[in-house]
Amino acid sequence: MGKPLEGIKIIDFTHVQAGPACTQMLAWFGADVIKVERPGAGDVTRSQLRHVEDADALYFTMLNSNKRSLTLNTKTEAGKEVLTKLIKESDVLVENFGPGALDRMGFSWEHIHELNPGMIVASVKGFSDGHHYQDLKVYENVAQCAGGAASTTGFWDGPPLVTGAALGDSNTGMHLAIGILTALVQRNQTGEGQRVAVSMQDSVLNLCRVKLRDQQRLDALGYLEEYPQYPHGEFTDVVPRGGNAGGGGQPGWVLKCKGWQSDPNAYIYFTIQGHAWEPICDAIGKPEWKTDPEYTTARARQDKIFDIFSTIEEWLSDKTKYEAVDILRKFDIPCAPVLSMKEIAADESLRKSGSIVEVPHPKLGKYLTVGSPIKFSGLSVEITASPLLGEHTDEVLTGLGYSADQIAEMHAAQAV
Ligand code: COA
Repeated sequence: MGKPLEGIKIIDFTHVQAGPACTQMLAWFGADVIKVERPGAGDVTRSQLRHVEDADALYFTMLNSNKRSLTLNTKTEAGKEVLTKLIKESDVLVENFGPGALDRMGFSWEHIHELNPGMIVASVKGFSDGHHYQDLKVYENVAQCAGGAASTTGFWDGPPLVTGAALGDSNTGMHLAIGILTALVQRNQTGEGQRVAVSMQDSVLNLCRVKLRDQQRLDALGYLEEYPQYPHGEFTDVVPRGGNAGGGGQPGWVLKCKGWQSDPNAYIYFTIQGHAWEPICDAIGKPEWKTDPEYTTARARQDKIFDIFSTIEEWLSDKTKYEAVDILRKFDIPCAPVLSMKEIAADESLRKSGSIVEVPHPKLGKYLTVGSPIKFSGLSVEITASPLLGEHTDEVLTGLGYSADQIAEMHAAQAV
C-alpha cells in the first residue's frame, strides 16, 4: 500500500521547531518535503547545541527526518527563479519566518496564488493577523506566556512557570498540519488553494481551554473547589497556579515513593477518581474509609485531600514507583510513574511501538528520536535520517529541468 500523502509536494520554508515539526509529520506520512535552506548556513538548529563537531545538532535531526534539503538563496535572481518553478509544481508551501519576511522576499500570498492557484500557503506566526502584537517575533516560552499556560502553571507561592513540553512550538506545528490537511481536502473539492495561518499564542490557548473554563467559574463563584487553595487558602480574581492538582473533576497529586530523597523522579501521579474510592481504600489499607461519611463523597474528602495524599505517601514509602503502579493497576486506579527522559529512552514498549526510534545518520552514526505518535492500521511509519545541508540540491534542480551546466552556474550565482 502506498503512503497516504504520496504525490503531495511541499516546499518547506520552515526553521527552528514549530514549522519543522509540522512538515516532518507530513513527510512521515509520505509527502515529498523539500526543505529550502540558505546556502552555507541552513536552518539555525543545524548548529545549535551541537554535541558532535561538524555534525548536525540533534535539535535539527529530530525535527527534520524524512525530508530532502535544497539550498537556495532566495534573495538572488537565480534563487527566485528556482523558487518560482518549484511553486508552480508544488502543492503546499509552509513557512514560519518572522512577520513579513515572505513578502519581503517577493513571494506574497497574492503572487504565489497567481503562480499556482491550487497552492496552499501555510504559516506559523507568534500572534494572529491583526493582533496588537502581530509584529512580534516569538519563541516557545514567549508563546507559553502569551497563551495563558505560564500564568496557570507552577506553585501558588512561586512565579509563573513554563513547561518542558513544546506547547508553543511543536504543538503549533501539529495545529498547522491539521490545517494543511483540511485545506488539501477542500482543494480536492474546489481546485483552489488557500492560506492557512496558525499562531503560537492561539495554539497554546487551545490547550488551555480548561483554564478559561476555570476563570468563568471563578468569576461566578469566587472559588474553585478542585484547586489546592480550596477550602483553606485564598483566591483572588484570577485563576491561580494549582501546583500538581488535577485539572478535571478528579483530585490528583504527585506523590513521593521509595527513594525520593535521592532520586528526583521517584514519584507517581495518583488520581482519586470518584468511583475508584473504594478500591483506593482497599489498596492503601484503609478499608474503614469506605463507610466513613467523612470520606465517602468527593465533597466530604475535599477539605482533607492533602491529609489523604499524606496517608497514601506513607503507604508508598516502602514501594518504588514501579512497584506502586503494579499494585494500584490491579485496583483499576488511574496512576503512572513519573518517568525521566533516561527511562523513556530505554522504554521497551515505546521502542516496540515506534514511539522512540533509533535512526542511522551519516555523521552521527545513529540518533534517537520520537517517532510517530499516531498509529495507523494501514501505514507503518518509517523514520529516515534528516538530510545533510543541500544533500538533494542537484537532484531537485535536475527534477526541475536544469542541466548539469545550469546547476553549476546556479551554485556560482547563489554563492554567499
Ligand atoms: N535565502 C535567503 N534568505 C532567506 C532564506 C533563504 N533560503 N531563508 C530565509 N531567509 C531570510 C528571510 O528572507 C528573512 O530575511 P529578512 O528579514 O531580511 O526579510 C530572514 O532570512 C528570516 O528572518 P526571520 O524568520 O525573522 O528569522 P529570525 O532568526 O530573525 O527570527 C524567529 C526567528 C523564529 C523568531 C522568527 O522567524 C519568527 O518569529 N517566526 C514566527 C514564529 C515562529 O515560528 N517562532 C519559532 C518557533 S520554533
